[in-house]
Amino acid sequence: MIGAQWGDEGKGKITDLLSKSADVVVRYQGGVNAGHTVVVDGQTFKLHLIPSGILYPDTECVIGSGTVIDPGSLIQELDTLERLNVSTEKLYISETAHVTMPYHRLIDQASEEKRGSKKIGTTKRGIGPTYADKSERTGIRVVDLMDYDALREQLEWTIQYKNGILEKLYGLDPLDPKAVLDEYIQYAERLRPHVIDSSLHVYKAIQQRQNVLFEGAQGTLLDLDHGTYPYVTSSNPVAGGACIGAGIGPTVVDRVIGVAKAYTTRVGEGPFPTELHCDVGSLLCERGAEFGTTTGRQRRCGWFDAVIGRYAVRINGLDCLAITKLDVLDDVDEIKVCVAYDLDGETRKELPGSARQFARCQPVYETLPGWNTSTSDCRSLDDLPKQALDYLKFLAELMKVPIAIVSLGASRDQTIIVEDPIHGPKRALLQEGNSQKSPSRVG
Ligand code: IMP
Repeated sequence: MIGAQWGDEGKGKITDLLSKSADVVVRYQGGVNAGHTVVVDGQTFKLHLIPSGILYPDTECVIGSGTVIDPGSLIQELDTLERLNVSTEKLYISETAHVTMPYHRLIDQASEEKRGSKKIGTTKRGIGPTYADKSERTGIRVVDLMDYDALREQLEWTIQYKNGILEKLYGLDPLDPKAVLDEYIQYAERLRPHVIDSSLHVYKAIQQRQNVLFEGAQGTLLDLDHGTYPYVTSSNPVAGGACIGAGIGPTVVDRVIGVAKAYTTRVGEGPFPTELHCDVGSLLCERGAEFGTTTGRQRRCGWFDAVIGRYAVRINGLDCLAITKLDVLDDVDEIKVCVAYDLDGETRKELPGSARQFARCQPVYETLPGWNTSTSDCRSLDDLPKQALDYLKFLAELMKVPIAIVSLGASRDQTIIVEDPIHGPKRALLQEGNSQKSPSRVG
């Protein structure tokens, strides 16, 4: 299950729904930059690194090797869940995931400040610098954290090197290697019972014919390789990232489910063609409670962008989509959908590779009537006002992908299951057009 936009698509709720049928849920990339808000029985859970599957007592949760782990933060999440009587016994952490250290967070913050107007708008959680060290082959992995001598040896050299950067480049105070070592040794002891060979664990689950759900964080447009570079995160949220980040082969993946909001949001810097700077934008922000779970920043809001939607269908090989927050559009008189871009007078149906060109793209809209009535109590497609159903059909036809789930609020029951997202269609919300794997499928 992946995000089909710029993150914050409401994946937490959809993972929560899908986790019911999953024996194992695996997070395969990203770190505490992500944030899921899940509401169960009126209780709100905010999770960053731990998959929302943890709320089901029989579901195993795995934090895969493609993630980056900030141990202090992870322990806080564990403590919160335990306080709420949620068992964390079945949480497993990959021994080969990389660890976020204090210097990663400091460098993330300082480098963003130094960039000035060229900043990325990161979450300042040290994500980029942790992945940079991984690529530079100077990173510290969970296995190193578990081995006192290895950790001390590695930190001696690394902190000396990082202190040079902190002091000389950013004018910050140096870190004390002994204090960092002591802090991280404590973390290691708390996390040790959860550490495993996660790729092997997932492999065995698949061999035993268990259902495994791979949960992407962030979204397709924030992908390091396929997103709107450089305004992206430092990992691969796309479906292909699941293979690398969880350590599985592509042949074991049965279905790819995308999640998209009924409109678009983006947090952080970077071009956003359908962004609204008017009252409608404020309405979407207010009704959709569009504030980041991790940083509390107000999200930028705009109309649905089908150019990006089609791109996400292609890059991830989506079988179906979950459309979230349809109810947020309830009071909008007219709804626009971006069907193409105008780039310097030329109509473009595909995302340009160049960030400068993307910044010049103007949306080409089609306008649909709103429904001006509440949808939050609708529980089947038949309950939806005609205009809302037409809107969904329009999106499905534009993107040539069936809509399997429609979400109309934060609670588990505010959901319409159009077709079984895991085992395929009962009834596709699409008259013509096809999912990628079933070219002959019609509504
Ligand atoms: P980083 O992942 O903290 O390095 O931030 C890079 C970009 O990704 C920034 O624009 C962030 O706002 C964005 N970002 C990172 N995580 C999320 C997320 O979970 N939801 C939405 N945007 C995110």
